[in-house]
Amino acid sequence: MSEKKIIAVVGATGAQGGGLARAILSDPGGEFAVRALTRDPTTPAARELAGLGAEVVRADVDDPASLRSAFRGAHGAFCVTFFWAHLSPERELTEARAMAEAARETGVRHAIWSTLEDTRKWVPLSDPRMPTLQGKYKVPHLDAKGEADAFFAAAGVPTTYLLTSFYWDNFIHFGMGPKRGPDGQLALTLPMGNAKLPGIAAEDIGRCAYGVFRKGADLVGKRVGIAGEHLTGAEMAAVMSRALAQPVRYQDVSPDVYRGFGFPGADDLGNMFQFKRDFERDYCAARNPEVARSLNPSLQTFEAWLARNAARIPID
Ligand SMILES: NC(=O)c1ccc[n+]([C@@H]2O[C@H](COP(=O)([O-])OP(=O)(O)OC[C@H]3O[C@@H](n4cnc5c(N)ncnc54)[C@H](OP(=O)(O)O)[C@@H]3O)[C@@H](O)[C@H]2O)c1
Repeated sequence: MSEKKIIAVVGATGAQGGGLARAILSDPGGEFAVRALTRDPTTPAARELAGLGAEVVRADVDDPASLRSAFRGAHGAFCVTFFWAHLSPERELTEARAMAEAARETGVRHAIWSTLEDTRKWVPLSDPRMPTLQGKYKVPHLDAKGEADAFFAAAGVPTTYLLTSFYWDNFIHFGMGPKRGPDGQLALTLPMGNAKLPGIAAEDIGRCAYGVFRKGADLVGKRVGIAGEHLTGAEMAAVMSRALAQPVRYQDVSPDVYRGFGFPGADDLGNMFQFKRDFERDYCAARNPEVARSLNPSLQTFEAWLARNAARIPID
């Protein structure tokens, strides 16, 4: 059999990269092999990937030399940054630039850059509808990713720009699940009004990325937006009510109230939801579930995701 093409996967022990690594490894007849990047190959998550057949290598996105050695000889690279590890858009920009540079220097033939919109193209800093954060951003964790698109283009790396969506897994891991109110009823609180929120199972992002690598040259230079479904808060609450077998109501709050919740990044997320609410048409149009399904035929709906995961949502 001919040599497989190596895909270097940043964040392979995490949500997006992990989904991609598992998608490749679960298709042993496929054309690709996984090189999983991790800062620590001895962790259970890294060992699990090795057990599934991945080559596991030590690399840190903050150490350009380690990135170069991890990308060397790879056909493809999946590039993602970790905003919530440090809450710094400047650091995210540095990390994205380092990945684009490493891909250029090592001759990667196809990179996927996991990106989001630079919201300042819709809401300039002078627009008072939402506060400017960290001096020059409206939604720092979106804006920095969007700004970083230019690094991949300038480096001349053949890149697909993968526009991701809100993970439904945030209801499990990110404290965004329904909470019981004083009336004893569960409420899903989001500042989305009646707008639809494109959402996706985090695992499906990696599976779609696998589809992008399989399509190859056709998607180089393209922006590919993915979602499992577009649902309003009320629609998500209705599906949750069935899955949890108890009523969940949607509680719409203003973005100002959400920004005031006080947890780290609440202002960033309040602005993010406001952007998605106020620019619903553009934001949804950029994320087509049919495109996602064509890349990943096992794409889950919210109902299908809940059937597997509802019991993992912390409630009481
Ligand atoms: N939550 C959402 O709804 C959502 C939606 C769209 C986009 N995003 C974006 O997704 C990104 C995070 O991706 P994810 O959810 O896949 O991450 P994740 O599940 O938090 O995984 C992070 C993984 O990245 C690795 N990592 C962290 N810092 C690293 C570093 N300095 N060098 C190398 N590896 C490092 C860690 O692996 P090791 O410990 O093994 O090194 C970890 O397993 C964020 O930028 C976020 O803005 C999130």
